[in-house]
Amino acid sequence: MEEIKIGRGFAHGKIILMGEHAVVYGQPAIAFPFPATKMEVTVTETSGEPTIDCAFYSGVLAKMPELLESLRKVAELVLTDLNQQSAKLKIKIESSIPAERGMGSSAAVAVALTRALYNYFGRKLSKKKLLTIVAAAETIAHGNPSGLDALMTSEETPLYFIKGKEFCPLTLNLDAVLVVGDTGKTGQTKAAVASVAEKIRGSKAEYYQKNLDNIGDLVKRSRGFLEKNDAASLGKAMSEGQKLLKELDVSSYELDHLIETADSAGALGAKLTGGGRGGCMIALASDRKKAEEICLELTLAGARATWIYEMRGIS
Ligand code: MEV
Repeated sequence: MEEIKIGRGFAHGKIILMGEHAVVYGQPAIAFPFPATKMEVTVTETSGEPTIDCAFYSGVLAKMPELLESLRKVAELVLTDLNQQSAKLKIKIESSIPAERGMGSSAAVAVALTRALYNYFGRKLSKKKLLTIVAAAETIAHGNPSGLDALMTSEETPLYFIKGKEFCPLTLNLDAVLVVGDTGKTGQTKAAVASVAEKIRGSKAEYYQKNLDNIGDLVKRSRGFLEKNDAASLGKAMSEGQKLLKELDVSSYELDHLIETADSAGALGAKLTGGGRGGCMIALASDRKKAEEICLELTLAGARATWIYEMRGIS
């Protein structure tokens, strides 16, 4: 029996602890991989036209809706690079990363598809090439990506990241537990990134630039809090960060509602994570029991899903 040729590629979700939006303008950010949510792409051969099968579309690759334009770009770039433009491929995408919720699903699918195609053709893929291809896809999906999502959905360690600079691995050794809550509403990263860009070019440019600088300062201080295992101060910094993000108009009614719920349930601090205007929020809890209580309150307040992430011993 002839063996079926198969290519596989994986990626995972990501959580930005601090620094979203400001990171696009050169401020640092702290983020980590979120392996509780995963992306898998499988590539096999087909006899007809190349096809793609995912939660949003199942059909011929060339006729994919515009919404998935960034995926078509990945396929085009990779197949051109591998000189396989006429390959007859069947691409299957399976994901437990909620789409458009600030968990990096658009970067993760680009990472997993790139890896699966290189794997299918038995070719080596350098980290640099992977990030270049994902950056092209993310420019379509997000407009002006910092590169953080591409890195975080493909790397295995928490990072202190500054756009265009060598990133720095971090060890998380915090006596605290992170809760992630999904509002169930799709975020609007592209619109949120564009609106921040408008603000820092507009009549109150100086004010908003200061806001981004302040977020950067919070990130720097948060790195110290992580190093000193100071969960209480980190929680406060997260809540301060949320105020600054709200001023940038990247929060939403649903995010605010879940953040207030987490605060009332005794979180050390809470904020949105990722692009915002929907998507997910995070809250810091002093221990697992408190995290479970917060999850319950979030669910009662309408969260679509919740996750618990231990912040101890991760590097
Ligand atoms: C999106 O997950 C994070 C943003 O900072 C955009 C980016 O870094 O590319 C909003």
